[in-house]
Amino acid sequence: MNIKLSTKNVHIGKLRHQLRQLGKSLQREHVMPVITIDGPAASGKGVIAGMLAQEMRWNLLDSGVFYRAVAYVAQERGVERGQVDLIELARNPPFFLCRPAPWLPPSVFFEGRDITRFVRTEEIADIASKIATIGEVRGALMLRMLAEKNTPGLIADGRDMGTVVFPDATIKIFTVSQLEVRAKRRFEQAMEDKGEGSLLGIMQTIQMRDRRDEMRAIAPLKPAKNAIIIDSSQMTVVETFCHVVSGLIGRNEAPLHSVTK
Ligand code: C5P
Repeated sequence: MNIKLSTKNVHIGKLRHQLRQLGKSLQREHVMPVITIDGPAASGKGVIAGMLAQEMRWNLLDSGVFYRAVAYVAQERGVERGQVDLIELARNPPFFLCRPAPWLPPSVFFEGRDITRFVRTEEIADIASKIATIGEVRGALMLRMLAEKNTPGLIADGRDMGTVVFPDATIKIFTVSQLEVRAKRRFEQAMEDKGEGSLLGIMQTIQMRDRRDEMRAIAPLKPAKNAIIIDSSQMTVVETFCHVVSGLIGRNEAPLHSVTK
């Protein structure tokens, strides 16, 4: 999370101030307010969730990291050969998450190693999305996610944060973006990390993963019925952030008038 918003930009500076005010107002009105951000792969939800949490100094829940960490351990232990009890693994995970501050993304440790970098790959995400179709696995991981709800508030991102895990969330966001744009973002990231990647390959993998996430019987990827939908296809990260903050402020001021059918 290296994105810094320049306070030299007056507009952003004002928005940051408004966001902090919003946080305080939500804290006064709710015991433990929750803002959920759901959306398909690479739609920008993780970055935006991180920026909100950091600005507001709220707890950050990256729910995908739980599925990814289970997937990583499962792969290490031979899930392809049917040697892993996935439900037991989700109930008693042998990894742990560690973060320097509650609003920062976690590092993942397994058997004394920092596996964060490996957990973030598209290969692990693909295994994660297969594992995420198992109801008992979701149930076990959901218990851990619920425990992340703490004062002063929670920013939770994933696929079912607003629909299943925190259905009573204070404000819900759903981010979307064109497939080509999302694939390009991941391609550029892969080039930066590894110096290689295939745009077409990434596009196909993301599309398959989204389809699996949308089609599964339990907690499928879909917007909560009262979510604010943000399409970031034509926006930079900072522009998306501005739209999300404006949406949050608007929803807090007029909660009943902006419900998406
Ligand atoms: O968000 P991220 O890309 O890290 O998630 C990896 C996979 O984990 C998703 O494709 C999805 O299958 C699963 N997941 C989920 N529910 C969540 C978060 C992630 O099913 N709340």
